[in-house]
Amino acid sequence: MIKSPTALKNRSLLSLNDFSDEEMMCVVDLAIALKKRRAEGVRGDLLRRKNIALVFEKGSTRTRCSATVAALDEGGGVEYLTRSDTHFGVKESVKDTARVLGRIFDGILFRGYAQKTAEQLKQYSGVPVWNGLTDESHPTQILADLMTMKEAFGEIRGKKVVYIGDGRNNVANSLMLGCAKAGVNFFNCTPRELLPSRNMVEESIHLAALNGSTVEVGSDPAAAVEGANVIYTDVWVSMGEETKKEERLRLLAPYQVNMELAERTGNLGKDLIFMHCLPAFHDNETEASRETGAQEVTDEVFESSFSKVFDEAENRMHTIKALFVSALAE
Ligand code: CP
Ligand code: NVA
Repeated sequence: MIKSPTALKNRSLLSLNDFSDEEMMCVVDLAIALKKRRAEGVRGDLLRRKNIALVFEKGSTRTRCSATVAALDEGGGVEYLTRSDTHFGVKESVKDTARVLGRIFDGILFRGYAQKTAEQLKQYSGVPVWNGLTDESHPTQILADLMTMKEAFGEIRGKKVVYIGDGRNNVANSLMLGCAKAGVNFFNCTPRELLPSRNMVEESIHLAALNGSTVEVGSDPAAAVEGANVIYTDVWVSMGEETKKEERLRLLAPYQVNMELAERTGNLGKDLIFMHCLPAFHDNETEASRETGAQEVTDEVFESSFSKVFDEAENRMHTIKALFVSALAE
């Protein structure tokens, strides 16, 4: 029997701060239960007659597909809406669109640029809104990441996650917050030019301390990875930042995740996993990676036995399903 806490009913998730630490981990545990149930061949009806609008300003493979399958698996429906085929933000304000969508749908998953757009959707639609990535944060990704860590380690409190790369992007911001809330030690290793905001770091240090863990920031990858249980990286140029490409490649070249760095953790072959939210630049298989000619992770690490990137991708579906179910199931 799948049960979700009544406190999560009708709740939105725009930032991980919208949930208490316990609520965040409840969603992860619900996702683990839903994954097990699905593996046993059960497709439920927890989202029967629930319809979810997927409002996407940016491209997506994992988030869009996860939301679609999550809803369909449990008897719900989705509609995919983009700027090019709706009036959203072009001919109709976010506020007006939100009020229309709120009359028709039971929830809205938003992916886009401004965090403010997600906030407006929540404010004016009157239905739960989930943030499927903005420039500032990517909370649904981190639910899948915490789930993947739990699957790999069992207990995650006290483990050490080292994020290496663009230290101020959406994934880095939310991972820092998620680790702090989960009592996981977090190190953001990034060039000085790409440091996360001081406010976010201070807030995360405070939350981590309440959970008996630490949050650190530094710029030396070899020192940062010492004792790491998770090495995590993301693309060097996020969606919408294409004009910054040259600068990023120059700044981040010394931050590539490779086998030498994995060995420096002291945990390789024992207690180390590699994570990446995907999509990743790790080979020359795509036009974009050939054109960029730089990779945030080597193919050797990406394809290694300690790489958990596809478990992580699959877990996007289970965690988004857990969010939908906890907010909408009757
Ligand atoms: N990790 C992630 O959000 O992937 P998509 O951009 O494919 O949704
Ligand atoms: N930081 C990346 C994450 C993609 C899932 C981006 O925003 O493009």
